[in-house]
Amino acid sequence: MWQTIKEQVNVVFRDDPAAKNVFEVLLCYPGVHAILLHRVSHRLYHWGLHVVARLLSHFGRWVTGIEIHPGAKIGKRFFIDHGMGVVIGETVEIGDDVLLYQGVTLGGTGHEQGKRHPTLGNHVVIGSGAKVLGNIVLGNWVRVGAGSVVVRSVPDHSTVVGIPGRVVAIKGVAISEEEETMLEHGKLPDPVGQALSSLHTRIASLEEQLRGKSEEAPPLASNENNN
Ligand SMILES: CC(C)(COP(=O)(O)OP(=O)(O)OC[C@H]1O[C@@H](n2cnc3c(N)ncnc32)[C@H](O)[C@@H]1OP(=O)(O)O)[C@@H](O)C(=O)NCCC(=O)NCCS
Repeated sequence: MWQTIKEQVNVVFRDDPAAKNVFEVLLCYPGVHAILLHRVSHRLYHWGLHVVARLLSHFGRWVTGIEIHPGAKIGKRFFIDHGMGVVIGETVEIGDDVLLYQGVTLGGTGHEQGKRHPTLGNHVVIGSGAKVLGNIVLGNWVRVGAGSVVVRSVPDHSTVVGIPGRVVAIKGVAISEEEETMLEHGKLPDPVGQALSSLHTRIASLEEQLRGKSEEAPPLASNENNN
């Protein structure tokens, strides 16, 4: 636990130039309090103590304004700067070295069951007020602009901005809207699917022909009688 606290304090010095000393970080950073409480409530949740875990996360929300469901899986060196208004849903998965600012929601869209919240890779930064919704994946080193609403998965090293979130750069190099469309996996050509679909059509047509032929042929029983 001591190691976790030490690591958490170091993360604040890494991500917030305003941090002055260890006591200030331990006493005045709601993001630090929220994640330390979450580490405990997550463990309780996995021991099956769901109500106790929820109570602890509810207490965390009360003192920090940050709501993290105890079921959320959060990697190492996670930091929420400023904190107030952050919501992290039950089936969220977060990699290592992720930074969120105030007002970020990692939530569901309201239609899904089971895994219904986002998965974030390592080194992701999500700007203040941004919403990342649904069972989507943000790759490693993704940066989401303040106030954006992201509802589609984005590849590694993308910068996403706007509503709905659009990839405007990869590895810091600007990309056009056309290039962005190519990133949409849902719109990529699907050769296997197309081949299966044409096979399906061909089989249906062969079955149709066979049915026609068997209707034309004399019944088997009369052949036997003739013999
Ligand atoms: C998204 C972000 C990381 C991009 O930073 P960057 O790599 O320096 O990118 P740029 O500033 O060059 O912006 C790239 C393009 O996205 C646009 N853009 C940047 N941030 C945007 C946002 N939040 N919403 C909409 N568009 C945005 C820029 O206008 C620019 O568009 P253009 O190419 O048409 O001019 C940064 O703008 C951001 O929002 N960071 C979050 C910071 C934050 O929340 N701080 C809270 C402190 S309390």
